[in-house]
Amino acid sequence: MAILVTGGAGYIGSHAVLGLKRLNKEVVVADNLETGHKESLLKDVPFYNGNLKDAAFLDRIFIEHEIKAVIHFAANSLVGESMENPLKYFDNNVGGTLSLIEAMNRHGVKKIVFSSTAAAYGEPETVPIRETDQTLPTNPYGESKLMVEKVLKWADQAYGIKYAVLRYFNVAGADREGIVGEDHRPETHLIPIILQVALGKRDEIKIFGDDYPTEDGTCIRDYIHVTDLVEAHLLALEHLDTHDSNTFNLGNGSGFSVKEVIDAAREVTGHAIPASVEKRRAGDPAVLIASSDKAKEVLGWAPVYTDMKKIIQTAWDWFEKHPDGYREGGES
Ligand code: UFG
Repeated sequence: MAILVTGGAGYIGSHAVLGLKRLNKEVVVADNLETGHKESLLKDVPFYNGNLKDAAFLDRIFIEHEIKAVIHFAANSLVGESMENPLKYFDNNVGGTLSLIEAMNRHGVKKIVFSSTAAAYGEPETVPIRETDQTLPTNPYGESKLMVEKVLKWADQAYGIKYAVLRYFNVAGADREGIVGEDHRPETHLIPIILQVALGKRDEIKIFGDDYPTEDGTCIRDYIHVTDLVEAHLLALEHLDTHDSNTFNLGNGSGFSVKEVIDAAREVTGHAIPASVEKRRAGDPAVLIASSDKAKEVLGWAPVYTDMKKIIQTAWDWFEKHPDGYREGGES
């Protein structure tokens, strides 16, 4: 009995595959390698290169392997791009998931863990954000994830497919042994960009606004280590064996400002990391912090990497060994 990981060549998906293999679970990966990296695939894990909207592609996987559950990461996830090209997000993220659920239903697979996002909430009314708070996405990316959440609810009712929806806050860091890491193209996330400055790949980090209503004026985010995040997926999957569908926030429950993250990176790397202040980036809420109490209470989840320097250290260890990401030596 295997677990199908869609998007298993991506940043979070590759860490999930590694986490499952460390538990000696049987894993199958599906990825179209649009944003994922073939170099992140583990040798002994069957890999299928294709698109989730292709029913025949999915049928082949479900026929060739006895899939008992799906962890679904495959999606486009750039907020800015989603504003410019919303239909791409509805087509890939919603359309791809509809096709995946149809295939699960055809093949009698009844469990799915779904990668959702804090962007499903939009601008929060209060922080920390709870799962019961209003969901009013401010961009098509968040909207596409929320639409899938709604689809899952009705698929559960109609077909008995149980789901765990996991709403991630700011995922960061890399595997402790450096087997996989973070490599986005283009890179838009704060911590990798800061570390590229430390490596001399960029001249400076641009701080997007220091006039927010926070103590130092820069945005506050809730950074969760990718390995802690993966651990929650494994717990959620197990939980579905004996419990109903559910939705959980995943964050550290404490916020760090952009300036605090830069300072922590200066300490960890020993580099100066020049910074300059730019104007605000459109659509950035001032403060996003999760309440992850529910995941802790219901799943027994206990994040290990709650310290910002520890999170950055794991990312830095990987970046130092892979200054050009997965494309070392000019390979793609
Ligand atoms: N930032 C900078 N300079 C940069 C990059 C980022 O100042 O060069 C700031 C941003 O303005 C923001 C913070 O650093 O205040 C974090 O930015 P990221 O781009 O790393 O992350 P976001 O908070 O924008 O986005 C994350 C996920 C999204 C998800 C969103 C939920 O990456 O997928 O949280 O709100 F949708």
